[in-house]
Amino acid sequence: MSAQRQTIIAGNWKMNKTIEDAKELASSIVKGIEGKSDLPKIVICPPYTSLSDATAICSKGSCQVGAQNMDYRTEGAFTGEISPPMLVKMGIKYVILGHSERRQFFGETNATVNLRLKAALEHSLIPIVCVGESLDERESGLTDSVVRRQVAAALEGFSEDDIKTLVIAYEPVWAIGTGKTCEAEEANRVCGSIRSTVNDFFSDGKEGSRSKIGESIPVLYGGSVKPSNVAEQLDLPHIDGSLVGGASLKAEDFLAIIEAGSKRVKLAPQAS
Ligand code: PGA
Repeated sequence: MSAQRQTIIAGNWKMNKTIEDAKELASSIVKGIEGKSDLPKIVICPPYTSLSDATAICSKGSCQVGAQNMDYRTEGAFTGEISPPMLVKMGIKYVILGHSERRQFFGETNATVNLRLKAALEHSLIPIVCVGESLDERESGLTDSVVRRQVAAALEGFSEDDIKTLVIAYEPVWAIGTGKTCEAEEANRVCGSIRSTVNDFFSDGKEGSRSKIGESIPVLYGGSVKPSNVAEQLDLPHIDGSLVGGASLKAEDFLAIIEAGSKRVKLAPQAS
C-alpha cells in the first residue's frame, strides 16, 4: 500500500433521492464522520438537483461533492446538458466520467470520455474516470485488453503533468448493481494492470526511463461494494478506495465503508 496514494471513498447516488431525501442522507453522512480522524477522502455524487444542497451541507464537514457526469463544452445550445463552469461555480470538486451506465445507455464512447477528461482538467475538476469490461468480454478473455484500451483512449493527448489529479475506477460492468462482486484478488490484479497501462502509455517512445506516474494515481474498485466485502478489497495494494453505488444510498452502510477506508489510512498514513 502506498503512502503517496490517497484513499478515496466515493458514493455514486445515480438517479436516486429527491431533494429532501438527499439532504437527509448528506446530513447523516456529515454527522457520522464528525470528529473522526484518519478519514479517507470522502466524495458524494448526488443527482444534479441536489448538488447545491449537498455542497452546503458538506461545507460543514470533511466530505466533498462530485457530479455524476458533465458535458465537455462550456456553454451553448445543448439542451439538458450541464457544463464544467456550472459545476465549478457551485463548488463541485469531483466529476465521474465514462461510467458504464453512461456508455451503455447514453452513447458515451472512449472518444467522448477523452473530451470530458480534457474539459474536467481544464476546469480543475478532479476526474474519476470509470473503465471496466462487460460479462461477454470477461468470458471471452478480453478483460485486460478492453480495460487497457479504455484507459489509453482516455489518456490520449495528455502529458504526465496534465493528469496529476486523475482518479481511475475499475468497475466491471457485470458486477455493478448485480450483487456479484469481482473477487478481491482479481480486482486488485486489474487495478494493478490499469496502473501499468498508465505507465506504459507515458513510457512510449521514451528511451531508457520508464514512467512511474501510474504509481501515484489512485485506482478505485467499484461494483457491488458493501460493508461486508470492502475490507478485503482495501487490504490489497492496488485498490486505493471504492466507488460505491447501492450501498452509498444508506448512511449506515456508507459510513461502514468509510470506516474501512479509515483503517487503510491508519495503516498507510498519506499526504492530504
Ligand atoms: P453498485 O454500483 O455499487 O450499486 O454496484 C457501483 C457503480 O455503478 O458505481
